[in-house]
Amino acid sequence: MKRVGFVGWRGMVGSVLMQRMLEERDFDLIAEPVFFTTSQAGQPGPDIGKTIPTLKDARDISELQQMDAIISCQGGDYTTEVYAKLREAGWKGYWIDAASTLRMVDDSIIILDPVNLSVIEQGLSQGIKTFVGGNCTVSLMLMGLGGLFRENLVEWVSSMTYQAASGAGAQNMRELISQMGQIEASVKAELANPASAILEIDRQVAETMRSGSFETANFGVPLAGSLIPWIDKAVDAGQSKEEWKGFVETNKILGRSSDPVAIDGTCVRIGAMRCHSQAFTIKLKQDVPLDEIESIIASANDWVKVVPNEREITMRELTPTRVTGTLSIPVGRLRKMKMGPDYLNAFSVGDQLLWGAAEPLRRMLRILMQ
Ligand code: HSE
Repeated sequence: MKRVGFVGWRGMVGSVLMQRMLEERDFDLIAEPVFFTTSQAGQPGPDIGKTIPTLKDARDISELQQMDAIISCQGGDYTTEVYAKLREAGWKGYWIDAASTLRMVDDSIIILDPVNLSVIEQGLSQGIKTFVGGNCTVSLMLMGLGGLFRENLVEWVSSMTYQAASGAGAQNMRELISQMGQIEASVKAELANPASAILEIDRQVAETMRSGSFETANFGVPLAGSLIPWIDKAVDAGQSKEEWKGFVETNKILGRSSDPVAIDGTCVRIGAMRCHSQAFTIKLKQDVPLDEIESIIASANDWVKVVPNEREITMRELTPTRVTGTLSIPVGRLRKMKMGPDYLNAFSVGDQLLWGAAEPLRRMLRILMQ
């Protein structure tokens, strides 16, 4: 593999990918990195510590055809526009994509190598050339609970999510902060006065959030000081698409679509910046002692860590504030539930832009380079 093309490297996920590839010196392994653009062909590419050609046109099929592999973080519309044309033109290279467009097609693999390296390797040996990063919530769940699936202990999972603004996009992150600022500004004077009445402050905050001038262009409704219990469009049977992905993508990642584990829950947007959290109810196939469960979870990969189910450490370690910008996947609140000894409670947090988006892509490139 000599030539690797990068598309959508300037966006939010693409920028995180670039940052991680520089940190891990991935570019040292790539003989000819080529950067593509949808708007600035001919201009200089990014500084990656080695000489690269000027930016190529991301819609130029003959330029794309020169690549041995292409990583796209450009988004689903670009994949829809370009991928089929490229394959129809006879291109046999590896396509590694962050967008969901190709996740569920038959000849693609959803990549999350700490969990499904064997599925990836089997796909490679069968000549699969299309590798797609999973939905962030799904990938983060599997990074946390992978050990339980590996040991075939899971009968079903209910996942209630607390999803960050970043999952909706960069503009949504900005809007969340603006909303927070608007709320604070509306009661600044009252907050500064310790004698002011809290119920009056609360009334003014609600009035601000409900007013027509509250910034909601991206979310459509207030998120700061509130939440949104619906993510993505509606699919069948009352599920949102985000909830539907939990079942289909998890089972595809695990290579068990023909013998699926039931996974369902309610996906909720909250006012965190870039960490998705999830509260799980896990129906185990048998009663496994809690200390065994903890070691099974902790041994699954190098990034998951079990947080003891104690107040202080949970408040410190099991939060978006602690995890943001890191690859750590803490799993805590582990306890048996009142429903019975084979019902396990768990809570996890993970950075939506790292393990939820960019990290599996760069690791797939590494696998191809071996
Ligand atoms: N669909 C996810 C979300 C993001 O809206 O949070 C990426 O998988």
